[in-house]
Amino acid sequence: MYNNLLTEVSEGILTITINRESKLNALTIETIREIYDAIKTAESNDEVAGIILTGAGPKAFVAGADISEFANFTVEQGTKMAQNGHKVFNAIENCSKPVVAAVNGFALGGGCELAMACHIRVAAENAKFGQPEVNLGIIPGYAGTQRLAQLVGKGKALELLMTADVIGAAEAKELGLVNHVVPADQLLAKCNEILDKIKSKSPMAIAKVIDCVNTQYHKDKPGFDREVELFGQCFSTDDFKEGTTAFMEKRKPSFGKLLSV
Ligand code: COA
Repeated sequence: MYNNLLTEVSEGILTITINRESKLNALTIETIREIYDAIKTAESNDEVAGIILTGAGPKAFVAGADISEFANFTVEQGTKMAQNGHKVFNAIENCSKPVVAAVNGFALGGGCELAMACHIRVAAENAKFGQPEVNLGIIPGYAGTQRLAQLVGKGKALELLMTADVIGAAEAKELGLVNHVVPADQLLAKCNEILDKIKSKSPMAIAKVIDCVNTQYHKDKPGFDREVELFGQCFSTDDFKEGTTAFMEKRKPSFGKLLSV
C-alpha cells in the first residue's frame, strides 16, 4: 500500500515501520506524505487504539530528512518542505490516539524531530539522538528548534542545536528526551506494554488528555512559523550548498564567515 512504510495492526495496535533501511530510513517528501496518510487513516480506524512508529533494521530509526533530495532545493521549495513537515508532525502530535516512538538506532535531524512529535519515546540502548543540521548549513525544519526546547529546556536545546552533538540513549533519558531505555530486543515489547495499558482506559479521556497537554505547547506559537521562514532562507546560502555537497561527497564542510543573517 505504501512505498516507504510497512504497516501492521495487532491487538488494536498499529505499528508503522519506516522502510528505507539502505538509506537509514531517511525521510523523503513521499515518506512524510505516507506517514501523514497512515496516521490520519489510523485515527479514523476503529480497530486501532494506539500507534507505534519505528524504523526498519537494527541501525536507524530515521537518520534525518533525505539530504540528496533537498540538496538542490530553492528557498521556495525549502519553505514548502518545512511547512509540509510541520503539518505532518503536528498531525502526529495532535493525533487523538497515543503515538509511541520506538527509537531503534539513529534519530538524527528529522528523525529526532519525528520522535519528538510522538507522545511517548522509548529508546533501544543503541539509540542515538541529535540535531546535526548546522553541519549542513541549515537549521531544523520539522519543529526541532521548538520541541527540543520544550522537552529538554532552552539551555540544553541550544547546546545540542549549536554543537550538533549526538547523544546516547542514557543521556537522552537523563535529559527527559526519552521516557524509557530498554535492550534493543525488548523495544517493541515495551512500546506494546505501554499502549496495552493505555488502551484499557477511556479513549475519549485519552484524546482529551492529549488535547489539553498539547494546548500548553500550542503549535501556533510564533517560534514554529519563524522556524519555517528561517529554514527556507537557508536554501539561498553558500553554506547550505557547501554543507549538503560535503555530506554527499563524504567530506567535512568548509563554511564561510557570518556576514549577515
Ligand atoms: N539523507 C540521505 N541519505 C542518508 C542520510 C540522510 N539524512 N543518512 C544516511 N544516508 C545514507 C548514506 O548516504 C548512505 O547511502 P549510500 O550507501 O548510498 O552512500 C547510507 O544512508 C548509509 O549511511 P552511511 O553514512 O554510510 O552510514 P554510517 O554508519 O557511516 O553513518 C550516520 C551513519 C547516521 C552518522 C550518517 O549516515 C549521517 O551522518 N547521516 C546524516 C545525518 C544528518 O545529517 N541528518 C540530518 C539531515 S537534515
